[in-house]
Amino acid sequence: MGLSWMLERTGLTERAKQDVLRAAVDSGMNFVDTATLYGGGANEELVGAALHDRYDRTFLCSKVGLRAEQLDPPKTERCGDPDYIRQAIDDTLRRLRAETIDLYYVHRIDSDVALEDTWGAMAELVQAGKVRSIGLSEVSVQQLERAQTIHPVAAVQSEYSLWTRDPDGSGHTSDGDPAGDVIGWCREHTAVFVPFSPVGRGYLSGALAGRKFPEGDFRAENPRFTDQARSTNDDAVLPPIRAVADKHGVPMAAVAIAWTMLPSLDGGVSLPIPGTSSLEHLAENAQAADLQLDTEDLEVLAAIPAASGQRY
Ligand SMILES: NC(=O)c1ccc[n+]([C@@H]2O[C@H](COP(=O)([O-])OP(=O)(O)OC[C@H]3O[C@@H](n4cnc5c(N)ncnc54)[C@H](OP(=O)(O)O)[C@@H]3O)[C@@H](O)[C@H]2O)c1
Repeated sequence: MGLSWMLERTGLTERAKQDVLRAAVDSGMNFVDTATLYGGGANEELVGAALHDRYDRTFLCSKVGLRAEQLDPPKTERCGDPDYIRQAIDDTLRRLRAETIDLYYVHRIDSDVALEDTWGAMAELVQAGKVRSIGLSEVSVQQLERAQTIHPVAAVQSEYSLWTRDPDGSGHTSDGDPAGDVIGWCREHTAVFVPFSPVGRGYLSGALAGRKFPEGDFRAENPRFTDQARSTNDDAVLPPIRAVADKHGVPMAAVAIAWTMLPSLDGGVSLPIPGTSSLEHLAENAQAADLQLDTEDLEVLAAIPAASGQRY
């Protein structure tokens, strides 16, 4: 997402962005996440240009149902209309240079359209062979139950990280509705849980100290990135992560990402999707895969208080 939308772009050329994506897949990080929303299709085009010759070893995911009403500053609108979904997949496949994709999510539920109608249109895409499986993002258990009666939910993507966490996987959807135990629901229904923003949009890496964000960067207006919230979180959230990182000799981002994989130990499958525009950060984040957090680490991280500032 950050290569094309919402986060400060560091003036990278298209070639450099493609190099990051190729390096990820070539080093075994093959669970690739994009969306029609990101850059109004630009991110899907980028993924297509960078990875189309690697699709035999890429698990390719995109999302529909949120579109860019305006690119700069970013403004979104929801669209869960079945006709739109039928047309959007063809545009997505063209941009991705793919005949089919592995996983297609509804990015956000559109309250003007019955969930059953949106999800029914998604199920048709599986039957048509355009997508192999379908998922939902930022939904509640109640919504998952409704969808599941029509077609199996393969994956659920929700924000989940050391500063957006609940011991039972509960919390709230981006509409403010109680989400319920989404992680537990995934485990029981063999759906994959996909934590997004596992590095807390960069914050949990500890590398954003004092950084100001330009207009158009999502964090410039985000309640968790105000000076006031940061001054509280800098003292409460970051030191425990730093202590665990120092103990294991790994970057803080690796600790943050490894923590989001813990639901897998409980019999489920949790596949986080960290984002980066940097080859150096990519290598740091890969260290999460081999990091074994022990009981003492988990106690230190569990003691992190609730973050100051709403996530949206
Ligand atoms: N379903 C949804 O509604 C939704 C919403 C948001 C995101 N997502 C998905 O989740 C993915 C990741 O989310 P995200 O980009 O919001 O958050 P994230 O992965 O938590 O953080 C990305 C930010 O962290 C920085 N970063 C990453 N690794 C770092 C490291 N090792 N050291 C220092 N900084 C580091 C990146 O900067 P650099 O570029 O400098 O590394 C970038 O600014 C997105 O690409 C998107 O696919 C989904």
